[in-house]
Amino acid sequence: MDNRPIGLLDSGVGGFTVVKKVIEKLPHESTVFIGDSANMPYGDKSRERIIELTRRSVKFLLQKKVKLIIFACNTATAVAMPTLQNEVEQQVIGVIQSGSLAAARTTKNKKVAVAATPVTINSHAYQKEIKFRDPDIKVMEVAAPELAPLIESQKDYDTNLAAVKRSIAPLKGQDFDTFVLGCTHYPLIQNEFAEALGDKIQIVDPADQVAQYTFNVMRRDGLFSSSDQAGKHEYYTTGDPDKFSEMGRRFLGQADLTSHQVDTRNL
Ligand code: DGL
Repeated sequence: MDNRPIGLLDSGVGGFTVVKKVIEKLPHESTVFIGDSANMPYGDKSRERIIELTRRSVKFLLQKKVKLIIFACNTATAVAMPTLQNEVEQQVIGVIQSGSLAAARTTKNKKVAVAATPVTINSHAYQKEIKFRDPDIKVMEVAAPELAPLIESQKDYDTNLAAVKRSIAPLKGQDFDTFVLGCTHYPLIQNEFAEALGDKIQIVDPADQVAQYTFNVMRRDGLFSSSDQAGKHEYYTTGDPDKFSEMGRRFLGQADLTSHQVDTRNL
């Protein structure tokens, strides 16, 4: 048994989409989530800079005495996790392996499309992980630099829909049956994706499998909390705490959600 919280990090509000699934799957666990909104997007930065920024959030979570760390960010998973997981004792869980497993299990015609940030796409992490599970699957990758910053700035449905349509235009004419939301910001506008893709395509949100994998790791390592009460949840951002809280309230349906601003630069 281990009553310490689960730590999650993202470049911004995208991490809420993983927090939600983790709370649903592990309701007695407490969580601490930090979104580095002051420095988002990560998706167009250098590998070195992403490692440096992600390391700050890891240090912040370690100060909060977390028992394991979820990189609730595809970009950080793709380029920073291999380095940073060697710097901490805690188990580090990324989102790309889980998302790839879910995609490989979902596709029937063995054609999968993935949209993600330029850094994630250039790493080909999804392609490698999906093909590792089934080499016969064709993986089409599309970089969508416009989307995460747009979602972070909280625009209306039609603006989001138009941006999604522009972003997935390179996939036109491809007959994939499965589409991976390869950035944790994207499930915040899942309805817009569903409308743009049409109802024949299965949308995979890696967070479902991440929550299941986290559950499995905690069971294996004896990390479940001993509490039978609902967990407590803390939210931190390096950006504007009001905007961050507003997105959290809306997406998690926690009317009293508040977040705190933190400066991680000197950690
Ligand atoms: N939410 C992040 C991801 O999953 C990235 C957004 C960004 O900062 O570019 O990749």
